[in-house]
Amino acid sequence: HRHLLGIEPLAPSDITTILDLADRYVTLNRASDKHGDALAGRTQVNMFFENSTRTQASFELAGLRLGADVMNMSMQASSIKKGETLIDTAMTLNAMHPDLLVVRHPHSGAVNLLAEKVNCAVLNAGDGRHEHPTQALLDALTIRRSKGRLHRLTVAICGDIAHSRVARSNILLLGKMESRIRLIGPPTLMPAGVADWGVEVFDDMRAGLEGADVVMMLRLQKERMDGGFIPSEREYYHRFGLDAEKLGYARSDAIVMHPGPMNRGVEIDGTLADDINRSVIQEQVEMGVAVRMAVMDLLARNLGKPMQTARS
Ligand code: CP
Repeated sequence: HRHLLGIEPLAPSDITTILDLADRYVTLNRASDKHGDALAGRTQVNMFFENSTRTQASFELAGLRLGADVMNMSMQASSIKKGETLIDTAMTLNAMHPDLLVVRHPHSGAVNLLAEKVNCAVLNAGDGRHEHPTQALLDALTIRRSKGRLHRLTVAICGDIAHSRVARSNILLLGKMESRIRLIGPPTLMPAGVADWGVEVFDDMRAGLEGADVVMMLRLQKERMDGGFIPSEREYYHRFGLDAEKLGYARSDAIVMHPGPMNRGVEIDGTLADDINRSVIQEQVEMGVAVRMAVMDLLARNLGKPMQTARS
């Protein structure tokens, strides 16, 4: 693969290759010397047109730990603010010969469009409600390390599915790895066409969580609700917020996940989110660095050896 634009084009063997390499990077990240050289001589540019804490920080750290020259574009201060188009900005950066371009954008499909115009490898760091592939990969690594496998698990994804690129990428990945997927949430927050996705749909936490091995909670993504129905937070928490009582419907060893940023008391009880016996939210963040190291390492291998013409 030249780019990582989504989970959709990946084969199960691609996913396993990424996760196996990421496992090795978890070991490196836990060592006192965290330096690798897989990206030595490479230039990585991070372009985030939408806010981020976890994804941007972990892509930056991943690049630095593998020896890349990493530049974070300040999109607030960029010429986008003067009316330059996304494609013109991308072409301008392309002329500076980056090797890896990490892009987050509020519009679904914007990253795919950009990838058609540049020579470097493009990594989708989340585009609208379309895909967030590295999130699904880090979630898969967290699940595999906790449960020992990805196949024949029952994974409940709960909340605002309609606006969630995290849900979409996870559904694609877990489906490829033969897990059973349950979507739980109010019908108003289910995407159109969900009946064709090969998943079970519930609007009741008790029924949906029964027998679940993994409970993945999602944030209400109000920024993408553009004038549509926004549920009252109180009512939403009462019906769909995960607390210890509702988690009791799942398997007794079920793990609790959340991609962040988390709204405590809206989709999840704060005490449960902090309960290290059930919640793997901090592990997800740790796996995020390792997974991003793995995908950038693998994409850089396809770029060929760094050219050193100017020095030789
Ligand atoms: N999970 C996730 O994408 O978080 P950020 O928006 O903070 O990057």
